[in-house]
Amino acid sequence: MKSILDGRPALAREINKMAEVAGYLWQKGWAERNGGNITVNVTEFMDEAVFDMPAMGEPKPIGCVLPHLKGSYFFCKGTQKRMRDLARWPMENGSVIRICDDGASYVIIADEPVTPTSEVTSHLMVHDALVAGGNRKNATVHTHPTELVSMSHTPAFLGKDVLTNLLWSMIPETKAFCPRGLGIVPYKMPGSLELAESTLAELSDYDVVLWEKHGVFAVGTDVMDAFDQIDVLTKAAQIYMNARCMGFVPDGMTQEQMQEMTRAFNLPK
Ligand code: 13P
Ligand code: ZN
Repeated sequence: MKSILDGRPALAREINKMAEVAGYLWQKGWAERNGGNITVNVTEFMDEAVFDMPAMGEPKPIGCVLPHLKGSYFFCKGTQKRMRDLARWPMENGSVIRICDDGASYVIIADEPVTPTSEVTSHLMVHDALVAGGNRKNATVHTHPTELVSMSHTPAFLGKDVLTNLLWSMIPETKAFCPRGLGIVPYKMPGSLELAESTLAELSDYDVVLWEKHGVFAVGTDVMDAFDQIDVLTKAAQIYMNARCMGFVPDGMTQEQMQEMTRAFNLPK
């Protein structure tokens, strides 16, 4: 069967990278059943022949107007599709969409008419802001990391910057690779416009956002970069929880050690 990847090695490489990350999410135990979703802005890999590709079906509403995405292209995981299947057969478990000229709807163009993830509004709203800000980040990842979701079940961790400071203090690399920390979005209905709007707002201050009692949402220069940030934060959460399981509350790095790190890595705050 013909694929949009045929004769487009740069696009194929990007899709392979996305599939590799989908496999990691499954292996990490963060992607039960169809849990989680990935979208990648693939506009830069497109050409004239793609612009002429017909829509597979009628335009579908995004749920909001995204003026900076008109004519852009995204690879999206399909709704109800499994990460572990996306890893092996990306073009059967996701599709490439084109944002219509109204900025409020999209059409599927390749390879198969796989309906995009139910979280498409969150993903596209964030991509719109990235494009508007001239940001080179092209990938967004939502997944269900067990430790971070567990921690979101108590108000003790949901106060402003409480979890960020706790996680930073567990191992030096956390602040180095997630310097703006973890924002919190109070529980919202999955797939809702409210969830998308809150996610976008929180990402203006933080690298990664925790959706209370649900999962995380990360942005990256590519899909690997988005994955790395979630991985680093989850590692810190595991260290904290292992210490608690061993029967003690971990000390965490001292304020002096944190400040030394911040200076050495030239980090904000
Ligand atoms: P989709 O299968 O629609 O991508 O939904 C998975 C999910 O995690 C919703 O938050
Ligand atoms: Zn989810």
